[in-house]
Amino acid sequence: MLSDMAGVFISFEGIEGSGKSTQVALLAEALRRQGGAVVVTREPGGTALGQVLRRLLLEPAGAPLAPKAELLLMLADRAQHVQEVIAPALQKGSIVISDRFVDSTTAYQGYGRGIALELLAQLNHFTSGGYLPALTLLLDLPAAEGLRRARQRRGEAAGLDPFERESLEFHERVRRGFLEVARANPMRIYIIDATRPREEIHQEIVTIVRSKGLEGSSSTAS
Ligand code: TMP
Repeated sequence: MLSDMAGVFISFEGIEGSGKSTQVALLAEALRRQGGAVVVTREPGGTALGQVLRRLLLEPAGAPLAPKAELLLMLADRAQHVQEVIAPALQKGSIVISDRFVDSTTAYQGYGRGIALELLAQLNHFTSGGYLPALTLLLDLPAAEGLRRARQRRGEAAGLDPFERESLEFHERVRRGFLEVARANPMRIYIIDATRPREEIHQEIVTIVRSKGLEGSSSTAS
């Protein structure tokens, strides 16, 4: 955590179809109702450069991306995102809610693609500039259920992105990666059972945010 950080940084993580985006929106709305200045953002794609990178990553025109190329594009997205959006908003005292952050790189590029975890830890630190969420909400559900939901949401007509097209085994490795990172960081990462109704999940998240004293824009992350 950086000492110049006046705001509150919260991230959401989870496999495809875990309902992150819905829960991000519900939490942002709840915090805004309490008067908080909330910035909602995401990775990849939280900046203008990031949107170009997101298209390259999720709609590759030619051959599938090499795992190392995929990793470096994700990291370029993060470096720009931290400098342009996250750091300035935190320095202004806002509550920043990011749909994915460093743990996605560990889970997808590490556990999913097999890139060395020690290298990813260094690169995550390098690109995040030391900014780490005070709280990470990991929406957990079985990979088969997540994939079913994600594919259903897309519908048959719209094509699946390269991650949604990955095998069930890939997504099971990614889920295991998230759970292992969560168990190694129990003070920061809360595992939420995402198979429950969305309102119940939201209430649990609000309770956690309150219990950590993070609901006010004046709170200082510790
Ligand atoms: P989204 O579907 O949550 O918007 O995320 C897009 C995809 O990007 C998702 O399949 C996970 C993937 N991703 C990584 O593989 N590594 C990362 O570091 C991030 C931020 C996302």
